[in-house]
Amino acid sequence: MDGPAASGKGTLAKKLAGHYGLAHLDTGSLYRAVARDILTAGKALDDEAAAADAAQSLESGTLNDPALRTPEVGQAAARVAKIGAVREALFKFQRVFASRREGAIIEGRDIGTVVCPEADVKIFVEASTDVRAERRYKELMEVGHDISYEEIHAQIAARDEADRSRAISPLRPAEDAHLLDTSDLGIEAAFKAAVKLIDTAISQA
Ligand code: CDP
Repeated sequence: MDGPAASGKGTLAKKLAGHYGLAHLDTGSLYRAVARDILTAGKALDDEAAAADAAQSLESGTLNDPALRTPEVGQAAARVAKIGAVREALFKFQRVFASRREGAIIEGRDIGTVVCPEADVKIFVEASTDVRAERRYKELMEVGHDISYEEIHAQIAARDEADRSRAISPLRPAEDAHLLDTSDLGIEAAFKAAVKLIDTAISQA
């Protein structure tokens, strides 16, 4: 599953993983964790050697750290995600995860295009920028962040632009991806639509 920032793919991927009894990997948390580790080490986000180092020594036990979910770390993640050596190191981790025999639900920006081009089912989750900003605003308010809707809207639009226009592994739907626009769908409706897409694709395979 791929899609732009706050498109709802995280919620959807977790629910699908529960439904199908599969492991789930949020690859955004890998880029966020690399950004966190660079910042904690007091290095610059465009220091390619420090970034490569951080990606190679990433501790998978730290991926659920709530500190990864801040808007600052999200923006920092999009900066380190442009660095080839970072993507290479994380590619290996993602391939190991994807190679489990029973399969997995993996979400990110380049899963259908680069990480798992052979995936049985690819879904590209979309939603309008306004809807995505609204969802992220609510999420952040719930955990007590002090940020305005306007700021979140601007950050999401800027991050999407950076993700779409970068030279390596830009955000885009794979040619054989199913598009799922969740602008007008609640969690349950989006989940049902995704299950239908997956079951149909699997039964035709
Ligand atoms: O949760 P949200 O949709 O806001 O973002 P995320 O999935 O946690 O991803 C954070 C950033 O990591 C993205 O804006 C991308 O720059 C980068 N990323 C990537 O380049 N490739 C991936 N497979 C996943 C995330």
